[in-house]
This record gives sequence, C-alpha cells and structure tokens, in this order.
Amino acid sequence: MLKKRYPYYLANRPVEANANLEVMDKYSGKPATRVALADATAVRKAIVAAHKAREAMAAFPPDARRDVLEHCVRRFTERAEELAQALCIEAGKPIKDARGEVTRLIDTFRIAAGEATRIGGEVLELQLSPRTRGYRGMTRRVPVGACSFITPFNFPLNLVAHKVAPAIAAGCPFVLKPSDKTPVGALIIGEVLAETDLPKGAFSVMPCSNQDAGLLVEDERIALLSFTGGLVGWDLKARAGRKKVTLELGGNAACIIDDEPGASLDHVVQRLVFGAYYQSGQSCISVQRIYAHAAVHDKLRRKLKAAVAKLPMGNPRDEHTFIGPMIDEAAAKRVESWIAEARDGGAKRLAGGKREGNLLPATLLERVPRDCTLYREEAFGPVAFIEPFEHFDDAIARVNDSRFGLQAGVFTGRIAHAMQAWDRLEVGGVVVGDVPSFRVDNMPYGGIKDSGVGREGVRCAIEDMTEPRLLVIRTG
Ligand code: SIN
Repeated sequence: MLKKRYPYYLANRPVEANANLEVMDKYSGKPATRVALADATAVRKAIVAAHKAREAMAAFPPDARRDVLEHCVRRFTERAEELAQALCIEAGKPIKDARGEVTRLIDTFRIAAGEATRIGGEVLELQLSPRTRGYRGMTRRVPVGACSFITPFNFPLNLVAHKVAPAIAAGCPFVLKPSDKTPVGALIIGEVLAETDLPKGAFSVMPCSNQDAGLLVEDERIALLSFTGGLVGWDLKARAGRKKVTLELGGNAACIIDDEPGASLDHVVQRLVFGAYYQSGQSCISVQRIYAHAAVHDKLRRKLKAAVAKLPMGNPRDEHTFIGPMIDEAAAKRVESWIAEARDGGAKRLAGGKREGNLLPATLLERVPRDCTLYREEAFGPVAFIEPFEHFDDAIARVNDSRFGLQAGVFTGRIAHAMQAWDRLEVGGVVVGDVPSFRVDNMPYGGIKDSGVGREGVRCAIEDMTEPRLLVIRTG
C-alpha cells in the first residue's frame, strides 16, 4: 500500500536524498517504507526559499489560495483510503480511527478554503477630538511571513493540516518538519501541494533530525514557529528569539461526571471509553482523570470496568480493533512503569493486563495516589483512573490541581454547574455533555499553564499567522 520510497519537498519540488529514514510498520515492527531525509543545508535552503516567497505568497490572491485548498480537499477525498492505510501502517492507528482522521484532514482544508476569502479588517473611528478631525483609519490583516512548523506522531495528517491549511489561507510560506516516526502523511500532503500553482518556495516538507530542525527554531528569517508536541516546546520557545510562537503541548485531561450527568450512564461510559482509549490514548485531550460524583460513582465504575475489559486489542488493520499498538515499545514501557508506580503506591487495577511489545491493554485504575506520576503528568497512553467526589466544588478544584490546562469535559444536567465549570476550570476549552477529547476542527484549540500558548483551530491559526496593518488617511 505504501510506496517504496517518498521524496521530501524543498521549495515545492520533490527531492531524492542520499540519506533515508526508515519508517516502521508499528504493528509488525518491520520496515514499511523509506523517506528522503533532509540535511542542514537543505533545511537552510528551504528557509531561504520560504523567506524569498513571502512577497509572492502575500500577493497570491485569496481566491487562488482558496482554489489551492479546494484542490487539496478534492485530492484527499480521492485518495482517502490510501491516506487511511498509510496512517494505519506508520502510526499503528486502528483503521477506523485512521479513516476518521482522514475525514478531519478534509474538514480542516475545507474550513481553511472557506476562511481564505474572509480575512478582513476593521474600520476605526479616529475623530476623537478636534486634533484628529478629518482622519480615517482602517486595518487589514497581512501575512506575518515565513513560518516553521513541527508536528507530532499522533495525528500525522490532521495536526499537519492545522498548520499548513491556515498558512496557505493566510498567505504564509512555510517549512514543515513532520515527526520522524510518522512522516509519510505529511509527505503525501506535500505531493498534493506540488500539484498546485502555489508560488515557488511557498512550501517545504522535510523530515530531518531534531538537531537540523534547530534552524527552524532559531533562524531570524522565520517569523512564526508553531509546534505541537511535548514539554520540550517551552525550550524551543526560549530559543526562538523574536518569532511569534504557538505551542500545543498536551495535558492530563479530566472529565467530571456530576450527580445528575444529563445523559444515561451507558452513554457516559461509551464516551469515556472513546475519550480515554481511542488510538491508545495517544491524544493530547485523552481522558486521563475521571471524577465521578459519589451518587453515581459505584455504578459508573462497574459499567466502565466491564466496558474497558472488553476492548479488542491487536492488529490495527482489523476493522474490530480498538486498541492498536503504541508508537513504540519505549512509550508502552514508560506507561507500564507509571501504572506500576501507581500500584506500588496503593492504586488498584480495575481493568488492564500484560504488555506485549508496544501493545498495552486498556487500563483503568482507582485510588491512584495524588503525588504519583500517573496522576500528575501526561500519560499519552491507554490508561485512565476514576475517583469519587462529594461536592461539585471539589471536582473543580481537582481538575485545576494540575500543571496542565488544555480541555476538560463535564457531564452535568445542571445548568448552574455547567456555567461554574466554564467560569472556573483553568483550561483552554470546556466541553459540557461530552469528554474533553471532543474536537471540531474550527474550534479555538489550545491550552493554558504548561499545556501551551496560543490557539489553533483554523481561524485562530490564521489570526496568528497574520497581523493588522493600519492605514490612516487624512481627508480634511
Ligand atoms: C492533539 O492530540 O493535540 C489533537 C487532538 C485532536 O485533534 O483531536
């Protein structure tokens, strides 16, 4: 299904390189394909090309940007199954989730196509005193210039789309470094972009070493760095100089289930199973902490335990698989060791089992000590824990007792509690009536505290990638 080899893209053109990166099939552990690996010279050339292309991209008309994005929508739709299979192989993503991600990739480009012709400005009233009479002011948003993007392994298509599609809509050239574990999705996006008439230098898609990617962080010709990944993002920000920086760094998302959850417990369980365990919990908004009101806790615990124990694990190509492999054995071992630490501290395992290589069974715990790693850090794996609470205030305090703050979910039928959650939860987004893992691709998306800075979601990203330019006209 995968080609034998994928070139990288430098200034819109495919390049074969001497060095290759082997991409493994995450289920079989065998080499699946090879991609060309860019070196520091190539990364530098891409930065120069993007910097040079900034005027041409700014002048590339909005309707032409929209046409490019619509071309991508058409081609991704035609190639949907190929893209899904690629994700299934390179990320080990269960095929159903992989198809879901392709649908979202298409949504993200479609949303950006719509936004491309809606980037407006503001008319300002400047006549505030006799001194300013006769002056008019207005702003329009102009592209910031060349951008650099660094993306993670867990959504090899859609988290790339969340940077690339707004950049095209905004008129910004870019250099993208995809994850070295899952570069194929981004390279297929590059292949489709190469079919368009984007100005020369508008895009480069370059798997490269982290060391060579340092140029994308530090080079002053880059105006904006957008990074999705782990806490290392804060170090990148510190090295980024005068650039604008957007960081999306994940969290240990919590979900509150109130005494009147506003939905049947069966429905809540179904959503918690999705939120905590889909794509083996490798999502920044995966449910990790479940706080259930004492009135519903025991029943919810019983139902959830039964549902988690039944989740089929195995080959991601199998249509019935829910738990596929984690990205590598080291990640599975890390999560396994966090579970062991929690159990040593007194936690009880309600569901779970033995790890086999990078396959870690869906695990549910209770009585997890508050000071252990699994409670405090981002697990990024198929593990969650449940804890009872007595008062809604306590639940809010526990959600906020975290260094992270990306999204939180609240099942409540009480409008006052929904509003309190929205007012008081220290997160970028509150989802009432569902898990924190819910995301639509036009939502503002991003966190506070250690979860990052800035917002993605197409319109917010376009806002970041543009800045207001003021025009003042003296008419009198
Ligand atoms: C993420 O893991 O940051 C993205 C989650 C999503 O887009 O659903």
